[in-house]
Amino acid sequence: MNAAVRAVVRASLYNDISVTGIRQGYHGMIRGDFVDMDSSSVSNIIQRGGTILKSARSEEFRTPEGRILAAQKVREADIDALIAIGGDGTFQGATKLYEEHGILVIGIPGTIDNDLSGTDETIGYDTALNTAMEAIDKIRDTADAHDRLFLVEVMGRDAGFLALETGISGGAELILLPETVNDIKSIKRDLSEVFFAHRRSSLVVVAEGNQTGGAVHLAEKLKDDFSQYEMRVCILGHIQRGGSPTARDRVLASRLGAASIQALLDGHTSVMVGIVNNEIKITPMKNTWNKKKNINYDLVELSNILG
Ligand code: F6P
Repeated sequence: MNAAVRAVVRASLYNDISVTGIRQGYHGMIRGDFVDMDSSSVSNIIQRGGTILKSARSEEFRTPEGRILAAQKVREADIDALIAIGGDGTFQGATKLYEEHGILVIGIPGTIDNDLSGTDETIGYDTALNTAMEAIDKIRDTADAHDRLFLVEVMGRDAGFLALETGISGGAELILLPETVNDIKSIKRDLSEVFFAHRRSSLVVVAEGNQTGGAVHLAEKLKDDFSQYEMRVCILGHIQRGGSPTARDRVLASRLGAASIQALLDGHTSVMVGIVNNEIKITPMKNTWNKKKNINYDLVELSNILG
């Protein structure tokens, strides 16, 4: 996010556009929590996790009254257009601001879920993926030393991009996604094959949105059949959402930040800038969440073969 903020500010100034930062997203917009930004206000942030502008969930902004207040504050501050960085919730809000109040908006995709159509990758995804993979590498040392079965839960309530690539890159024996149907019988069968037959450690990556209900529930369902083996649950949680971004994420955020200003100058509104096949692509904002982005089922197949 910080790399994107930096790119938006620097690309704007390059084009003689002044920039106002909005603290805490829509929550801050309703309160007029604005800050003038110059080139130095984004110095030394490209390597930092989180966002210097902070973020917030805003129930108030979900209401028409909240959006009236937000639009008023934007107009009072002489802001001509908004650059919104976030996921589908952020974009749904931005679309409403445009439709209800005519405020020009451009979206930049930022979510570790990678679940927005119109871009191959979202900002934060690669960093979260590498964090989860490194965690799994470390967990494997214990799993291997003790011949244990580990259930590792990664984020992803509705989308399995992160779980799928974490599992493949971490060499998981089994990967359970929100998109796949995994009945408990087949999970037990698969685990028995790798664990009982070869008597070696096993690692299962479970997306929090998998139909089993997540790693804790799955452990509960497995414990009787796997009682003679030590089973452990590890929920990676919010460590996946922080930390210094990978080079790939920084470059992506830099490109998308600059592209958002170019899109504005080209007269676009209510669109998201993304990167598809290494080229900037403009997508109507509504299509980013209306058109479901599917996981790559070839990778699911691959994980079955390799696991
Ligand atoms: O929407 C992105 C996401 O990372 C989901 O994968 C996860 O379920 C959720 O955010 C966690 O959100 P919170 O920080 O509000 O618990």
